[in-house]
Amino acid sequence: MPAIEAGFARGIKGPIVESLSHDILIIGGGGAGLRAAIAAAEHNPKLDIAIASKTYPMRSHTVSAEGGMAAATREYDSLDKHAFDTIKGSDFLADQDAVEYFVSECPREAVLLEHWGCPFSRDPDGRISVRAFGGMSVKRTLFAGDKIGFHMLHTLFQTTLKHENIHRYDEWFATSILVEDGHASGVTAINMRTGEMSSILAKAVVLSTGGCGRIYKFTTNGWIKTGDGMALAYRAGVPLKDMEMVQFHPTLLPNTGILMTEAARGEGGYLINKDGERFLKRYLPGKMELGPRDIISRSEMTEIKEGRGFEGPYGSYVLLDIRHLGEDVINKKLSFLKELAEKYAGVDPVHEPIPVRPGQHYIMGGVNTDKTGYTGIPGLYGAGEMACVSINGANRLGSNSLTECLVFGAAAGKAAAEYAMRQSMPHLGNPLQGVAMEEETRVYDQVLKHEGGERISSIRSEMQSTMDESVGIYRDENGLSQATRKIAELKDRMRNASVEDRDHVFNTELISALELDFMLDVAETIAYSALYRRESRGAHTRTDYTNRDDAQFLKHSMAYRDHGRPRIQYSPVTITRWQPEARVY
Ligand code: FUM
Repeated sequence: MPAIEAGFARGIKGPIVESLSHDILIIGGGGAGLRAAIAAAEHNPKLDIAIASKTYPMRSHTVSAEGGMAAATREYDSLDKHAFDTIKGSDFLADQDAVEYFVSECPREAVLLEHWGCPFSRDPDGRISVRAFGGMSVKRTLFAGDKIGFHMLHTLFQTTLKHENIHRYDEWFATSILVEDGHASGVTAINMRTGEMSSILAKAVVLSTGGCGRIYKFTTNGWIKTGDGMALAYRAGVPLKDMEMVQFHPTLLPNTGILMTEAARGEGGYLINKDGERFLKRYLPGKMELGPRDIISRSEMTEIKEGRGFEGPYGSYVLLDIRHLGEDVINKKLSFLKELAEKYAGVDPVHEPIPVRPGQHYIMGGVNTDKTGYTGIPGLYGAGEMACVSINGANRLGSNSLTECLVFGAAAGKAAAEYAMRQSMPHLGNPLQGVAMEEETRVYDQVLKHEGGERISSIRSEMQSTMDESVGIYRDENGLSQATRKIAELKDRMRNASVEDRDHVFNTELISALELDFMLDVAETIAYSALYRRESRGAHTRTDYTNRDDAQFLKHSMAYRDHGRPRIQYSPVTITRWQPEARVY
């Protein structure tokens, strides 16, 4: 049944007397969320499924993915090779059972996407084209020019439209998960068009809200990536796993943080320093530009620190040079990169190298789930960048994340469907109604109507600077301790912050305040998890503990919310067939 909105013609802040309800509610309309919806709908066409997203699905951040999606589809490749590359790339922090499941499902998901109409690039013989990507031992990244995210998102979206049992709440912002008797029973959410809050009840909830890159100032991530699902789950009692594992991509435009896709290096591009050298020969002689991101980002930082970078108005940088690929290849395979470099850096990469520097791109950590997306709270599932299964461990290999969205989105959708079929619909009696009303008071009385406090923009800016400076590529005890103190201070100040816009309709300042509140919780888990991981592994580089320490830290950090701040515990890493070894490329 479609959502029934009767009874909601009320002003802001009034008792929630009625609610909307669906069998399955998916929060987030990007790659993982859409894939979850399709899987649930296919599993049982009688299920009533809804997707609630703060943006229109086709504006989800998946749209910005460029380089491609990994799947072992060629005769020279194998599932074991894909698994081992992923595990080595993760610096042995990935759970190997999850990786084995992941790689075995990738080819199937790629074929499904192709059958649903995704316009992949093709070889002359008709096969989907593959390109090299960092840390992958063979060419296995399927691509569609350099706009795979755009095409994938459109393909998934149009596939959801075929299912009459998938409904959408576009531009609805979820503020809390409703939990009754330990079961997830829905969410409270604001309809951004009217400003009204409703509860949307569901037998099962799937979170697929993407990452949290906007905690950092210099990031490839769009403004919508504010860690909402992570904070929602954390506040509901689910631990956030391996949050210290933040990925810094080596090639961002220095002024905007716009991504210059790794596909440029996959196609043969070079990284060069001020002396015109391909400097990676010093750091990754066996892989050069096709090394993993964590090592390349650190190499760029070393070049810059040792005076071999360039200085520009937006800081230090190195160069990405693709001139030798020639205009035809660039136009055919890297046309989006060319357009972005021209528009946002004033550089035509056919004729000039592109200035680039490393910046935040992705988070390997996230909501703790198993391979089915289950979070440990009955009825609550998660998938995509927001979740940590974990297949990425301490460093994700480029192009694994899109297939991760498909594989684990599908698994979560199916598991949620099976669960929902066994449950009866929750109803909005007490205590759920009480919880929903408390949430309404928090949002409208404590945030929207609060007067005279600090603007949220200053708090957000200080959070982002703190994360860039103290929880960035290089970290140490002192900086991380300072970051935890600073975030605690910002959380205090946030309690007294106010918004100037008191309107109901599309109050983006109110939504930004709620997002910032989420981000502060998530940032705090990153800082604490990083502080307590006293080793260097993958993307987590401690200048005061420079070695990987398997004896003490071959384990996942788990951040639990405890009296408002994180308590860090640890859980074992699953090793199936690949014993940890030195990670040399
Ligand atoms: O550079 C890129 O195209 C990024 C790909 C990814 O993060 O998987």
